[in-house]
Amino acid sequence: MAAPESLPLKTLRQSPLLSSAAIADGIFRLEFDWPGPAPKAGQFFMIKPERSSVFLPRPAGAESFGGGKLRFLIAVRGRGTRELAAMRPGESAGLSGPLGNCWEDFFPPENPGDGGSGGKAIALVAGGVGVASLSSLAASYPDREFDYYLGVRAAFKDHAGEAAFLGEAALHHRRLLVAAENSGAKHRGLITGFFDPVGYPAVFACGPEAMLREVAAKCREAAVPCRVSLERRMACGVGACLGCTVVTGKGNRRCCADGPIFKAEEFAFDEQQQ
Ligand code: FES
Repeated sequence: MAAPESLPLKTLRQSPLLSSAAIADGIFRLEFDWPGPAPKAGQFFMIKPERSSVFLPRPAGAESFGGGKLRFLIAVRGRGTRELAAMRPGESAGLSGPLGNCWEDFFPPENPGDGGSGGKAIALVAGGVGVASLSSLAASYPDREFDYYLGVRAAFKDHAGEAAFLGEAALHHRRLLVAAENSGAKHRGLITGFFDPVGYPAVFACGPEAMLREVAAKCREAAVPCRVSLERRMACGVGACLGCTVVTGKGNRRCCADGPIFKAEEFAFDEQQQ
């Protein structure tokens, strides 16, 4: 029987983990064998280890895909992500996806001022593992230039540590500014304290909602188009359970099926319930 439109059949596979690398404190890059459909930049997967004590899978934005290998950045935040970080190569996880909308749906960004972002660099603002979604965007448009603004908890110890964290994102930027919250940081504080959208044709952001709210406010003030990818708890990932409902100026939307990317000006930051 065909699935109803609100319940799209998505690929669910037990996929072996090919590699796992700790790239910062509590942050891992996992690489899975993935013979399924290629994700578009900004899409996500639901993931759960085959042997797991948690009921629900965790959503994770795909960082990159190539040669049948699918990569994710995972930040350990609770039991589910701890189990993912503890996986060893050869063990399997259930992967469902690709899910959600994609950056392509918002690209090139509308900007009547320059006819659609012209040739100017676009700003990407990332909080922690949010860089994964944005680096997939940058990789999709190799003829465009991007400036990265990245916020992390602790400053990278050296260039190698920074390169390991950024992964392929290191290949696709014109400029990189990293802000960290610890005392050894060159730019100490939240990334929103260093980011200024003025002069950019558009801004794309992914990270914690508090960060997105500030980025969106700055963009609104500067009249710069802003698109945000949200990080939300999810259950089904396909729009069926309404567990990820977000409030927008156009009514309630499902983050997993209608998002996770929204126009910042349509997202009601003050009305969300997490
Ligand atoms: S997680 Fe079920 S509707 Fe989004």
